Amino acid sequence: MNITDNLKDYQQVRGLAIQSLFEIIEQSSEGTVIVDRDANIVWMNERYAKRFGLKSADEAIGQPCEQVISNSLLRQVVRNDQPILLDIQDTPKGPLVVMRLPIHNEAGAVIGAIGFALFDELRNLSPLIERYLSMQQELASTRSLLRSRQSKYNFAHFIGTSAASLEVKRRARRSASAESPVLLLGETGTGKELLAQAIHGASTRAHKAFVSINSAAIPADLLEAEFFGTAPGAFTGADRKGRPGKFQIAQGGTLFLDEIGDMPLPLQNKLLRVLQEKEFEPVGSNEMLHSDVRVIAATSMDLEAAIKRGEFRADLYYRLNVLPIQVPPLRERLEDIPALSEAILEELRSQHELDREALALLAQHAWPGNIRELRNVLERAALLSDDLVLNAPAIRAAIGTFTPVERGSAVAAVEGESFSAARERFDRQVIGAALRACEGNVVEAAKRLGLGRSTLYKKMVALGIDQSH
Ligand SMILES: Nc1ncnc2c1ncn2[C@@H]1O[C@H](COP(=O)(O)OP(=O)(O)OP(=O)(O)O)[C@@H](O)[C@H]1O
Ligand SMILES: [Mg+2]
Repeated sequence: MNITDNLKDYQQVRGLAIQSLFEIIEQSSEGTVIVDRDANIVWMNERYAKRFGLKSADEAIGQPCEQVISNSLLRQVVRNDQPILLDIQDTPKGPLVVMRLPIHNEAGAVIGAIGFALFDELRNLSPLIERYLSMQQELASTRSLLRSRQSKYNFAHFIGTSAASLEVKRRARRSASAESPVLLLGETGTGKELLAQAIHGASTRAHKAFVSINSAAIPADLLEAEFFGTAPGAFTGADRKGRPGKFQIAQGGTLFLDEIGDMPLPLQNKLLRVLQEKEFEPVGSNEMLHSDVRVIAATSMDLEAAIKRGEFRADLYYRLNVLPIQVPPLRERLEDIPALSEAILEELRSQHELDREALALLAQHAWPGNIRELRNVLERAALLSDDLVLNAPAIRAAIGTFTPVERGSAVAAVEGESFSAARERFDRQVIGAALRACEGNVVEAAKRLGLGRSTLYKKMVALGIDQSH
């Protein structure tokens, strides 16, 4: 019988093909292993045994496949009766491209599985693998970028149970479920950014990016590109390819427009258009891009005054002012100071605590820098004090060295000085003068000033004045 005759017997052809296939793969592969229906190894070629550190394939026989090939999936193939046609398997000597097939008996039932390690030269697959690896890398960096862009704060980070704080939190929480812009108004350091992040984190956009852009921190002529990006070819050099703007980066997420009051007028026009049309044009492009971002704006500026001065567009203000949240200064929620201080010291991983006088002193400071200033003061006090209990003098030292009052100097406003600072200077001067006149007798000085003794004492502590003045 010659070959041509053989090929006429279809059954036999099939048998030969199967046999050849097995032999070719077995011989050219990096390894072959066969397991029974319990995923115990029944056969393994010598090459494969060596790869897994065995002296001979005999050592593998009868062992559960995972015992020899630690992350083998042959058990899964037997159990599911499903082949895994192409996979990458890590081994101690490097990755392998593998194929795993179930083996059936004549009745079609699974009786085991066979695994071929097709090759270890992954470089043969280089175009495919490289693409896979670069996609993996891209995925990892996108994920980490997104993670870094996701908000760091939630509402629990906003400490405070004063009526004012609770109202702020209530409004902020409510705004989280809306889509309209939020406008956060408040002095510096009152927690506007913290709230913006918390609102994003509680919104349906939480799994998308939180992107901030600060109009005061970026030179005016770069702001437009920063906001809307640049089209390819719009510029020569590094930006030739075009660069995404914050609106693109925040797509699907939240864009935090910090210091909105500092936005130049031409950009205000453009921003207003984006808010109205939900479309924008990268710099140097004629193409309109759709924008799906939720805007949260913040400013410490009096926007209505800025409108009167012609520095802020009234229509933009109305667009942004849909859900305004006025964040009160710390001096209007003094009862939050103990909890805030505790949270801040905790966050600084400091072992320090504050005694009663220290807390009383904190309640008397004007806090022009609000919670950021409180944080700085506590950080400085903790740094300077060896004693784990921070007392009033330690806090006073950290609040800052007060400018010494010159004898007889008149109180006049100093340029750039805030009202509260001027007032502090005035108080210190008047009290100092009264004490000097009464030779340090506080009761006398209090009478002279028309104040209660304890009130004068409190003011003296707050201002860092001692009796010897
Ligand atoms: N209620 C609060 N509870 C705890 N920490 C707070 C609270 N408010 C503000 N902080 C902290 O104070 C610091 C300043 O807050 P944030 O940056 O949010 O202020 P801001 O209003 O954006 O200030 P600016 O206008 O200067 O940008 C941050 O470290 C923030 O975590
Ligand atoms: Mg801020």
